[in-house]
Amino acid sequence: MTKLSVNRKQYDVDADPNTPLLWVIRDDIGLTGTKFGCGVAQCGACTVHVGGEAKRSCVTPMKAAVGKEITTIEGLSPDATHALQKAWIAEDVPQCGYCQSGQIMSAAILLQQNKKPTDTDIDQAMSGVICRCGTYNRIRSAIKLAAINGGK
Ligand code: FES
Ligand code: FES
Repeated sequence: MTKLSVNRKQYDVDADPNTPLLWVIRDDIGLTGTKFGCGVAQCGACTVHVGGEAKRSCVTPMKAAVGKEITTIEGLSPDATHALQKAWIAEDVPQCGYCQSGQIMSAAILLQQNKKPTDTDIDQAMSGVICRCGTYNRIRSAIKLAAINGGK
């Protein structure tokens, strides 16, 4: 058994330590907000926080997350009241929605590191998170709105 802390809850997981964290989160723990896109660290759909850093869970082995707090989209706030979640709703960002948990989790780290990101800062920080629906302009607006509202 491997002990993991996900969204401030403790879990004992019976899986190979090399299993990608994405599958542990989705299949063993049952949190399906984190999505599988490419599986090879190219799209960002699977982004979660591990020890306060944005990580691509499709290429992060479970063993790399032991002893660190893991946060998924479900744990960003208990009731969808994080500034980014509210801004995402206000700006009507999602289209199909598939990429959006990865977008929000990546944006959350950006706002932790940069309270007032410029368009260039946002583009640089978010460039690896692919949206097939092309919602990039609304993502940028929502990140700026969340920054104005304190970013948390
Ligand atoms: S599914 Fe992990 S980066 Fe695409
Ligand atoms: S909203 Fe469809 S992939 Fe981003």
